Amino acid sequence: MNIPNSLIKKICQHPHIQEFIKFSEESLRANGYTNHGIIHCQLVAERAKNLAKELKLSEKEQNLSYISGYCHDMGNFLNRKFHHLIGAILFYDLFKNELKVQDLMAIVQAIAFHDKKEMNFINPVSAVLVIADKSDVRRERVYQKNFDLIKKDIHNRVNFATYSSKLETNTDLKDINLFLKIDTNFVSLIEYFEIFTQRMIYCQKAAKYLGYNFHLIINEIKIL
Ligand SMILES: [Fe+2]
Ligand SMILES: [Fe+2]
Repeated sequence: MNIPNSLIKKICQHPHIQEFIKFSEESLRANGYTNHGIIHCQLVAERAKNLAKELKLSEKEQNLSYISGYCHDMGNFLNRKFHHLIGAILFYDLFKNELKVQDLMAIVQAIAFHDKKEMNFINPVSAVLVIADKSDVRRERVYQKNFDLIKKDIHNRVNFATYSSKLETNTDLKDINLFLKIDTNFVSLIEYFEIFTQRMIYCQKAAKYLGYNFHLIINEIKIL
């Protein structure tokens, strides 16, 4: 049975979830990270749901992808390194009586698996979340407004350089394509690729699990 819209809304608008995301945003901002707050969470949730739909996953999997996307970074207010595991446990604790155990496990796994070494995909929701999350690179994620300071930090530089980002799926060719437009005054293509390689490896791994190939196209040049 699908997850009703009223329950999705209840989960995402839950006051604890809202506060976890808000505290995480403040905590990461204070430590010099790019935006991991509500805008990132909403964008990842929508991107994950769209991708799940384009891949023809079930409506329930689309909704599980949305919820996982919305909640994936909410553990950051306690610890950056283990935020994925913390977020998963917080989610489990809050909603263990609201969701069926299989749905709960799919979300908890997706949150726990979205970071680095934990990426052991055993359901499509986790793989969809990784692509939606790791492909969110854009200028608006940079808090710093001072150009000289932006240039000093590589993550700020890479995000700031990206003025357009689009994820597209070709189901006939089995391709998931990330199209980026970057301002090469801020970062060279080579440098960009160096910084982006690890993220793209995660996306490739996730796409492979879903039976797709992942490609990166920067300024109309196919990099991957
Ligand atoms: Fe994360
Ligand atoms: Fe994230």
